[in-house]
Amino acid sequence: MTDSLLSIRDLTVRFRLPQGETVAVDGVSLDLSPGEVLGIVGESGSGKSQILYAMMGLLAANGRASGQVSFQGQNLLALPPGDLDRVRGDALSMIFQDPMTSLNPYMRVGDQLAEGLIVHKGMAGTQARAEAVRMLDRVRIPDAAARARRFPHEFSGGMRQRVMIAMALLAKPRLLLADEPTTALDVTIQAQVLDLMAELGRETGTAIILVTHDLGVVARLCDRVVVLYGGRVMEEAPAEVLFDAPAHPYTRGLLAAMPRLETALTPRLGTIPGTPRSGGAVTGCPFVDRCEVRLPRCATDRPPLRDLTAFGPGRRAACHLTGVS
Ligand SMILES: Nc1ncnc2c1ncn2[C@@H]1O[C@H](COP(=O)(O)OP(=O)(O)OP(=O)(O)O)[C@@H](O)[C@H]1O
Ligand SMILES: [Mg+2]
Repeated sequence: MTDSLLSIRDLTVRFRLPQGETVAVDGVSLDLSPGEVLGIVGESGSGKSQILYAMMGLLAANGRASGQVSFQGQNLLALPPGDLDRVRGDALSMIFQDPMTSLNPYMRVGDQLAEGLIVHKGMAGTQARAEAVRMLDRVRIPDAAARARRFPHEFSGGMRQRVMIAMALLAKPRLLLADEPTTALDVTIQAQVLDLMAELGRETGTAIILVTHDLGVVARLCDRVVVLYGGRVMEEAPAEVLFDAPAHPYTRGLLAAMPRLETALTPRLGTIPGTPRSGGAVTGCPFVDRCEVRLPRCATDRPPLRDLTAFGPGRRAACHLTGVS
């Protein structure tokens, strides 16, 4: 891809454990164009968060990432910590699941927002604080100037999450990583917060990787979607076609298990018979035990992630049964 903002090649994340090594992300490759919104879906433990943590240099101490994460021409996995810090405060930003763990409880909200602009953009204090108030206003915090002088605990959950969005987008990053950014919120507020994030992302030209369990959110906000299972990409497709014509048996299972879009406010991933596997490093397909259409070779041969030209442009799937006629 020539206009790629992000190009991930063969990203693998391993964790050292007393009983041996576990593979949480197993050879993931994907590309992202400027301004694009990519959804990553998959059941709990499929490796969604670890992809983002590896990109941000935030893996747990027993974790190690290999492969390549090229972002604006630099391999993030090979950057010295100081350089990675600069990228993180400027072109790359992340919103975490729980805003309280990322906001400093002892610092006024306006000062926290301004700090990033002062440190990373070299802005003067007064100008940075004015920018912070303007951004709080943009994320619809009422009476933003007064609110900026308050502490995080004086905000409701929904407001704190909007403060996180303000903080993440203040530096106008090229790429925003959002890991289940609204699961802690009421369903009605979730939709508002996500819509706002996407709207501001469009305005600033920020590309977004949105990790979610919620296929309804993917349908509404994402240009493209990657389906992850056992640390591997099972399928990739433009969001609007994935729902009409899923190519991988795992994706078909997820969609069949999902409540109908129009009847449920927030359709969640449903249940497919069997237990999701984690740990990676299987020889065949990680979904083989739960797959209803498996072939004998699925247990032994790893299905490569192939382009599915017959399914239309931008489609890939890792299944021995898909794409061969
Ligand atoms: N520090 C660690 N040591 C060992 N294994 C770990 C560690 N951190 C994560 N894992 C494992 O990595 C795998 C992938 O975890 P990850 O957090 O990426 O899942 P996820 O897809 O984000 O799930 P969820 O939807 O629940 O957030 C899981 O099997 C998890 O147990
Ligand atoms: Mg996670």
